[in-house]
Amino acid sequence: MTIFRINMNEDQKNIITQTANYVQSISEKDSSGHDWWHIYRVYNLALKISELEGGEKFVIELSALLHDLDDWKLNGGEETGKAESWLEKVGVKNEERTRILRVIGEVSFKGAGVETRTTTIEAKIVQDADRLDAIGAIGIARTFAYGGNKNRIIYDPGIKPVRHNSFDAYKNNTAPTINHFYEKLLLLKNRLNTKTARKIAQNRHEFMEKFLLQFFSEWDNIF
Ligand code: ADP
Ligand code: NI
Repeated sequence: MTIFRINMNEDQKNIITQTANYVQSISEKDSSGHDWWHIYRVYNLALKISELEGGEKFVIELSALLHDLDDWKLNGGEETGKAESWLEKVGVKNEERTRILRVIGEVSFKGAGVETRTTTIEAKIVQDADRLDAIGAIGIARTFAYGGNKNRIIYDPGIKPVRHNSFDAYKNNTAPTINHFYEKLLLLKNRLNTKTARKIAQNRHEFMEKFLLQFFSEWDNIF
């Protein structure tokens, strides 16, 4: 596998630094689990995965940094186009801009029954890194942060998890946070693209299963 970073020129390195600063300034105050440190972790994890899986670093780095900027969850469901404007502003070439925007468009989860196909190795890697940050201990923490931020209750035994077969159904759901584990998080380990990510996912997945077992034993007073 070829790593292209060696060929990254000073201009490209500058663009990455500027982009990191820009995204940090926008996401610093987020309290929905999509704060700067989520972006930072996804960026680093994507780079780690790409050491073993390949892909073009410039595209991976910029896509990872910008992947949540226009996310529907953070922009009240509006199309915002912030990533595109930013890439234009810092002078990323047309052809590269298109590739990066395509990666960003392919990253997000849209419901258990909705296919999210990735068409490039760069998209596969960034999607895997984003999904790995949604599971394990950090995934659990982020999920409850998100639930609180969106005024969701923790759990209601009367509201069962559902399989969302359309992006709209997924987007519009307001179920308790525990349901999100069954509607998305526990499904992720079988929806990763790369072997490297599947390996990393294993123990994060088991940790979530343990957490849920403990949660329900406490709920039901099983000692
Ligand atoms: P994606 O684009 O695949 O949704 P993100 O990086 O935007 O990935 O982060 C998704 C994270 O946001 C989830 O893993 C979870 O922590 C949180 N989240 C999203 N939807 C919900 C929900 N309905 N309930 C609880 N947490 C949620
Ligand atoms: Ni993300």
